[in-house]
Amino acid sequence: NEDEFEKSFKQMISTLPKRKSWGNREDYFQYQGFWLHPAFLKGVVSAQQRFHAQPTDTILCSIPKTGTTWLKSLVFSILTRTSFDDSTTPLLSKLPHEVVPFMELYHANFPTYRDMGIPVLATHVPYSSLPTSIIDSGCRIVYICRNPKDSFVSLYHFNDTILKSQNVQPPDLDEAFELFCEGVSVYGPYWDHVLGYWKASLEHPNKILFLRYEEMREDTVLYVKKLAEFIGYPLSSEEQQREVPEKIVKMCSFENLSNLEVNKSEKVRGGVIQNKIYFRKGKVGDWKNCLTSEMAERLDQITHQKLSGSGLSL
Ligand code: A3P
Repeated sequence: NEDEFEKSFKQMISTLPKRKSWGNREDYFQYQGFWLHPAFLKGVVSAQQRFHAQPTDTILCSIPKTGTTWLKSLVFSILTRTSFDDSTTPLLSKLPHEVVPFMELYHANFPTYRDMGIPVLATHVPYSSLPTSIIDSGCRIVYICRNPKDSFVSLYHFNDTILKSQNVQPPDLDEAFELFCEGVSVYGPYWDHVLGYWKASLEHPNKILFLRYEEMREDTVLYVKKLAEFIGYPLSSEEQQREVPEKIVKMCSFENLSNLEVNKSEKVRGGVIQNKIYFRKGKVGDWKNCLTSEMAERLDQITHQKLSGSGLSL
């Protein structure tokens, strides 16, 4: 029951390594090799114990700031395309995080809840910490990753904006950069997170689709078709003739979503994050406006070293 869970959770976190967390009031805890905020940690542990995936589920996985919001909107649109079109889709009035919830934030407490009846959930949990039922049920996993320099810059701005909105002093860029390089960032080390899913995708290519933000930006229509096929909702030739994939891409584009009232809103859902903070620039290569060349070189070097021999480059 809930009290017992609470008690054993408190006991368990008291044994974990802690670090100061990017200016947040609460420390990060290192759980199964990754740094987590206590609010997420509880959900992760709860999901590990209580979440039951169905074989028909699709789980969207990512480390924060790699395109999660975009992936959610695309997969939601693919799954609901026969119920809604671009004038009726709930994406017009709801944040993508409302239509595809995070497993560790919602489902941990409501394991049978299925938002709008669609079989899709998202998580930032690293592959090695996924609830066993996700692996055993044979459900499909989609992972999105992004260039670490852009991900870091996105994370830095995200954290900075949230803390400032709470009148809390955020770390400066250099400080945040050091922590990121050390692997101390939310759900980090960044590279270990990516590598976990990358290796699993090589072992189980039919179960795990490994995507990159940059490639998806290049040809989103192609990836909508791939995604639809992979999650078992392929686009028919008739749908392709009607340009359904193109319409989905347009609906979910940064330009479109970021201009909707709901996504410009300063509304806060549950936690501390205003809707609009999920939409910043949506650009590939924005790190050039923020990092010095020394910083960029250092991150590239770490990435090169960490990924060497894996067959993955970022
Ligand atoms: P930037 O901060 O570089 O602009 P996540 O959704 O995982 O939190 O990632 C957030 C990043 O994705 C932010 O990057 C955000 O602007 C970008 N993003 C949000 N919606 C997007 C969309 N529809 N298409 C492309 N990028 C999007």
